[in-house]
Amino acid sequence: MKLQIINGPNLNLLGKREKNIYGDQSFEDYFKKLKIKFNNLELHYFQSNIEGELIEKIQEVGFNFDGIIINAAAYTHTSVGIGDAIRSVSSPVIEVHISNTYSREEFRHKSFLSAHVKGVILGFGLKSYDLAIESFNK
Ligand code: DQA
Repeated sequence: MKLQIINGPNLNLLGKREKNIYGDQSFEDYFKKLKIKFNNLELHYFQSNIEGELIEKIQEVGFNFDGIIINAAAYTHTSVGIGDAIRSVSSPVIEVHISNTYSREEFRHKSFLSAHVKGVILGFGLKSYDLAIESFNK
């Protein structure tokens, strides 16, 4: 099974950025552990700070991968384009967030993705990604 993890802006700074919210682990280190834990799956990882690159990745994998796990970060709350890309592809998409966005500022309560995804997992720290992968692991 082929799964694509897509991370949006500023998530390249995990481990350095607002550690009280996002923890002290880089995504690269965490991704190594994920690959060992889920060694029966083919996991791919892409990060970009650029909205159009996120859309291009969704289009590229969205007709041939078994699933996409996306944390669009700040673009979650602004991007009609990423929402449209998700609804345009055939692969199931899971939206994840590290923090519980509903316990934070009001502008983080709106997601332009949620209506178009299979499910949303948020608030479990990096474990949100584990849980999203589990949902594909039959
Ligand atoms: C985030 C929550 C967003 O509101 C924020 O802009 C992020 C990360 C999360 O994973 O908790 O960059 O998506």
